[in-house]
Amino acid sequence: MIIGILKEARPGETRVAATPATVTQLVGLGYEVVIDAGAGAASSFTDEAFVAVGATVGTATDAEVVFGVNAPSSAQLDALRPGATLVSLLSPGLDPELVADLARRPITALAMDAVPRISRAQSLDVLSSMANIAGYRAVVEAAHVFGRFFTGQVTAAGKVPPAKVLVCGAGVAGLAAIGSAGSMGAIVRATDPRPEVADQVRSLGGEYLSVEAADVEVSATGYAKEMSQDYNARAAALYAEQAPDVDIIITTALIPGRPAPTLITAEMVASMKAGSVIVDMAAANGGNVEGTVKDEAVVTENGVTIIGYTDLAGRLPAQASQLYGTNLVNLMKLMTPGKDGELVLDFDDVVQRTIAVVRDGELTWPPPPVEVSAAPPAAAAPVAPAAPVKAPLSTGRRVGTAGVAGALLFLLAAFSPAALLGHLTVFVLAIVIGYYVIGHVHHALHTPLMSVTNAISGIIVVGALLQIGHTESDGGTTITVLAFVAILLASINVFGGFAVTRRMLAMFSRS
Ligand code: NAI
Repeated sequence: MIIGILKEARPGETRVAATPATVTQLVGLGYEVVIDAGAGAASSFTDEAFVAVGATVGTATDAEVVFGVNAPSSAQLDALRPGATLVSLLSPGLDPELVADLARRPITALAMDAVPRISRAQSLDVLSSMANIAGYRAVVEAAHVFGRFFTGQVTAAGKVPPAKVLVCGAGVAGLAAIGSAGSMGAIVRATDPRPEVADQVRSLGGEYLSVEAADVEVSATGYAKEMSQDYNARAAALYAEQAPDVDIIITTALIPGRPAPTLITAEMVASMKAGSVIVDMAAANGGNVEGTVKDEAVVTENGVTIIGYTDLAGRLPAQASQLYGTNLVNLMKLMTPGKDGELVLDFDDVVQRTIAVVRDGELTWPPPPVEVSAAPPAAAAPVAPAAPVKAPLSTGRRVGTAGVAGALLFLLAAFSPAALLGHLTVFVLAIVIGYYVIGHVHHALHTPLMSVTNAISGIIVVGALLQIGHTESDGGTTITVLAFVAILLASINVFGGFAVTRRMLAMFSRS
């Protein structure tokens, strides 16, 4: 079969549904590939690069299988051959007119944005791969507009505090934003109604701000549901408290099939510092922020920039195309069981069934619901590995060991100077006391503990001070030099220990 790669009709679209790398994989699956002239130009893939890996430049709509990023234009749809299979983003849940239009045509239409969020389908999940890029880009856009460092710095010219970033909604895009902002050195906080994401936020170095409300629950679908008034009121109080404190807000809240919830009101925006930036990633679905203008960056009266770009993934076109193209290759792997370039649509497969909007002119949308769980399954009680059983010492061996130890102690006491026994007793007692004292100190406090014990060497300073100033007849110069060296080394030990501890504790200090 021939796969056609469309030149995107939507104005401003920079992505393309295949790259030279993914064409190579499609050819490996047995397909021929035809590409519209200049289809990859906006993402820096030339026609020659596609031809070099075995594609031909021609008319993509003539092919049996047609790949696009966005839904094709009417002209492109009209040009499709009967029986063709169209694979692209179609937003079937949000665009009933397009679905009806597709169902009037003798084609099969598969929506890449309807892939269910189940583990098996992760490699085809376009929404995740695009949201991942968009979350990163949202931070880059914010950093570009924000006129300051993200990371805190201590320079000879003064201290620069780190930027504070609040991410509302810790889905795929939100987590990518948390990771990116954190890696740029910002202090990152995040909220989400799904408590199961708290660990994911923390694992990326963010602080999870929980909204204590009754309807916070572990989701059964992997998506959030519309929240209650109680939740929204508590969340609003949290946002109102955070808005004047943070420098950047990135909102990603999305409830599938519904307009985006308003999280940040005009009042909260007005309470933010001049120069702050908001990136409203949900601008395409109505926005999470009052005052967002779709596809634009607006500056409010108090100097806050609200960015409502809906093409964030497309702002990194080459990589977005590569990931999108790879998602399509993975779909083709699923739908080409014989690896012979023949596409087989299997409705018994939940992934293929779910993305099918139209099959041979017959409407198949909406698909039966797919139950997925994003919550980690309850962990089974860990089974401790069986410890090797040690055979207890027999009474005879115990008596023998005690006898040998007693004899050694007797010999030591009888033949060593009296002072040694005294020192040995102190030494053994010190080991026992040290073991029990230090053994009960928390690991995190071992460094401060060490610096305190280091300070015991301060006794050397006292001793050395007493030695300084001996007369020449007492061998004064040598003793004074030795005492000076002892004072120097002991002081480094004492003060260095405290300096290290101070630096370590500063790492845990919020300010
Ligand atoms: P997702 O479904 O993985 O994440 C959305 C998150 O919002 C979920 O974690 C959900 O629990 C959370 N949420 C729902 N209601 C909330 C509320 N009231 N308060 C706080 N959080 C709430 O979606 P994904 O893939 O991460 O996408 C996030 C958003 O980014 C979507 O709106 C998507 O359309 C948008 N997006 C925007 C792009 C752009 O160029 N602007 C590109 C890609 C995605």
